[in-house]
Amino acid sequence: MFNRIYLNDDWTYYRQDTPEQTSVVRLPHTNIELPFNYFDEKLYQFVSVYERKLFLPEDYSGKHCFLRFEGAGHMAQVYVNGKLAENHYCGYTEFKVEINRFATFGAENTIRVVLDARESLNEPPFGYVIDYLTYGGLYREVSLEVYEPNYIQDVFVKPRNVDSNIKTIEVETTVVAEDYHRPFHLTYDIYDGDICIQSYEVESVDAVNNNTLYCADLENWDLDHPKLYELRVRLSEGSKDVTGWDYTKVTFGCRMVEFKADGFYLNGKKIKLRGLNRHQSYPYVGYAMPKSVQELDARVLKQELGLNAVRTSHYPQSQHFLNECDRIGLLVFTEAPGWQYIGDASWKEKHLRNVKDMVQQNRNHPSIILWGVRINESQDDDELYKKANEVAHKYDDTRPTSGVRYIQYSHLYEDVFAFNDFSHTGNNAGVRKKASVTSPKNPMFVSEYNGHMYPTKAFDDEPHRLSHTLRHANVVNDAAAPNNGLAGSFGWCMADYNTHKDFGSGDKICYHGVLDMFRNPKIGAAAVYSSQSDAQPVLDVTSSMDIGEWPAGRLGDVYVLTNADYVNLYKNGDFVNRFYPDKDTWKHLNHAPIKIDDYIGYLLESKEGMSKESAETFRKAVQGFMKGGVGGVLKPTLLAGLAKMLVTEKLTVKQIEQLVYQYVTNWGSDATVYRFDAVRQGSVVKSITKAPCNTVHLAVNPDHTDLVEAATYDVATVRISAVSEEGNRLIYLNDPVTFEVSGNLELIGPACVPLRGGVTGTYVKTTGAEGQGTLTIRTERAEPVVLTFTVRKEEA
Ligand code: GAL
Repeated sequence: MFNRIYLNDDWTYYRQDTPEQTSVVRLPHTNIELPFNYFDEKLYQFVSVYERKLFLPEDYSGKHCFLRFEGAGHMAQVYVNGKLAENHYCGYTEFKVEINRFATFGAENTIRVVLDARESLNEPPFGYVIDYLTYGGLYREVSLEVYEPNYIQDVFVKPRNVDSNIKTIEVETTVVAEDYHRPFHLTYDIYDGDICIQSYEVESVDAVNNNTLYCADLENWDLDHPKLYELRVRLSEGSKDVTGWDYTKVTFGCRMVEFKADGFYLNGKKIKLRGLNRHQSYPYVGYAMPKSVQELDARVLKQELGLNAVRTSHYPQSQHFLNECDRIGLLVFTEAPGWQYIGDASWKEKHLRNVKDMVQQNRNHPSIILWGVRINESQDDDELYKKANEVAHKYDDTRPTSGVRYIQYSHLYEDVFAFNDFSHTGNNAGVRKKASVTSPKNPMFVSEYNGHMYPTKAFDDEPHRLSHTLRHANVVNDAAAPNNGLAGSFGWCMADYNTHKDFGSGDKICYHGVLDMFRNPKIGAAAVYSSQSDAQPVLDVTSSMDIGEWPAGRLGDVYVLTNADYVNLYKNGDFVNRFYPDKDTWKHLNHAPIKIDDYIGYLLESKEGMSKESAETFRKAVQGFMKGGVGGVLKPTLLAGLAKMLVTEKLTVKQIEQLVYQYVTNWGSDATVYRFDAVRQGSVVKSITKAPCNTVHLAVNPDHTDLVEAATYDVATVRISAVSEEGNRLIYLNDPVTFEVSGNLELIGPACVPLRGGVTGTYVKTTGAEGQGTLTIRTERAEPVVLTFTVRKEEA
């Protein structure tokens, strides 16, 4: 019977060049913790060694014992009792090593992993410069898997005809048997939760069994209803032999994906993909984050950013991340590792192996809709890419293939043309016309946009952040047009990431995210995405409403990102005006941004008793002035209107000046308070008040406080912002924030960090012990915040 024992604890770790300096570590582990920014990228590029004892009981000797490594950066040599058992040449795919021939049963064995994280390795993605750090370490989990002499090696569940009443699942079961002449039985039970809803049994002698199970009653998996089932498979000698030889289970969902010339279809229904690219990296520890942190990213994408898709750029990512995508209904485009460079014959062989491993290891995830079989943004290599495409189809005949290009009309062997379209510069079309990129007959989508075209820091000034916001809105809008032949788009990218010296802002960070590295949303840009979903009320205002943020003190256009029907603006408690989504500019967004370009509105009528006509004239003049200054914009007709207004309203020039001060510039006036009320179906669903800040507060958002030690340690992410008394982010507060942990917790990263753009974050990690712990977050000018965490142990 299959048995998994996690081996995440008790590894002795050292650098190969300093074997005397050892430490005992738990997995996931990064070979070195890095600073937040400004560091030498060579720091992690070295060979390290992980060593561990493993007792193998006598009764395992007749079984198959495998070590399973879920992610090892980047070239692993696995030794068992000093004998080389395996070389694995990819830092992103899982691998298993059968250790029986090297092991001693009834005794302690020594497992040693020599792990090379140097970027000089001859394997993808290495060979030239790369725009992301590749880190090093046993950064995902390791386990021992023990199988009976006859066992189930693999189960691949293929949903078929899910849009019809002859829905089936075809199950490809690979069996390893001692004697293939001796018939065995395979029992398939489909479970919905704890209830077995269908059972099948077959007798066979074949190593690979293809069985079709009729499942007309199974519900489909889709975005709003990601229904999952479990297929339990039993291998036994005779029928109804409950103890059997082996037993395994696979989670699956019934769904059908198609990319056609006119777009993407899920279960026959056309859906525009709206996604972002995700790198799997975090501050300090790079790739080494456990289950709950991986899962959180999936929820951030779907639930916080309202997306329906993600691209795992530029490599296969954690099973925990993908499992969560399955559970919440987030579509995934995953791809083999690589970045622009194609190497020699041996390098290419490794690419083909990576494609095979990626497909075989991930093909039961209903969330995965597409395989990327090319090296991201590489030149055409017809021989290699024909083969890569064949490999993917050989191991999965249910999904289409693609590969990401930056070359228009590059050769297409795969099913779908994926194109990085960086043509948007702020004032032009969001995306290129499909016909200029590939034949309109091909299915196509945009796999990246924006990114390096407009890097934006959480601490950039308001005009910069506004442009970032609008650029995202422009591209998503144009990609979402119904008849443009695009299946959708994936923006670059989800979160800022550490990168090499050749890229980024010189501090080893690419500020390309709509989130910062801690996953704090950037004002405006993040809300372009979150406001497209109706799941929860969203309201964000691109401006702090402070004139000093803008040249010449002219508050430019302010945008509200919301999924409400409209926004009511109040100034010092008085209603100014109602503003609606700008559907003329962004026709194809579910919820277009709302432009606020009038801060006078009805105030002259309600407060000054002016006529509607005069108020209108004054308002237009002011708008013109705010946009371009008096000379350029005040046209003769408007001047004439103003003159007429002076007469009808019996105003002197002095009084007009006064009105300008009072209603436009607000110079010298007492605190001006703006309130934006988002109204949906007649009710205010969210409200933001912009007022001068006098006191500093901390807004702290831990993702969970009930931590669980199971297969390994757990980590809670803590997102932190400095806010005003009204809850507005204090973008230019750079104060230090300190962290102090007590009890059974450890901190990841430094105990003192600056606020950057008014935001920061930290991570607390369990230590193996149950109980309670606290994290105290302090900054000099705010009340400290104390978070209490509980840690419990659970069976893995
Ligand atoms: C693309 C590349 C990404 C990232 C992005 C920045 O060319 O595929 O990995 O570097 O540019 O905009």
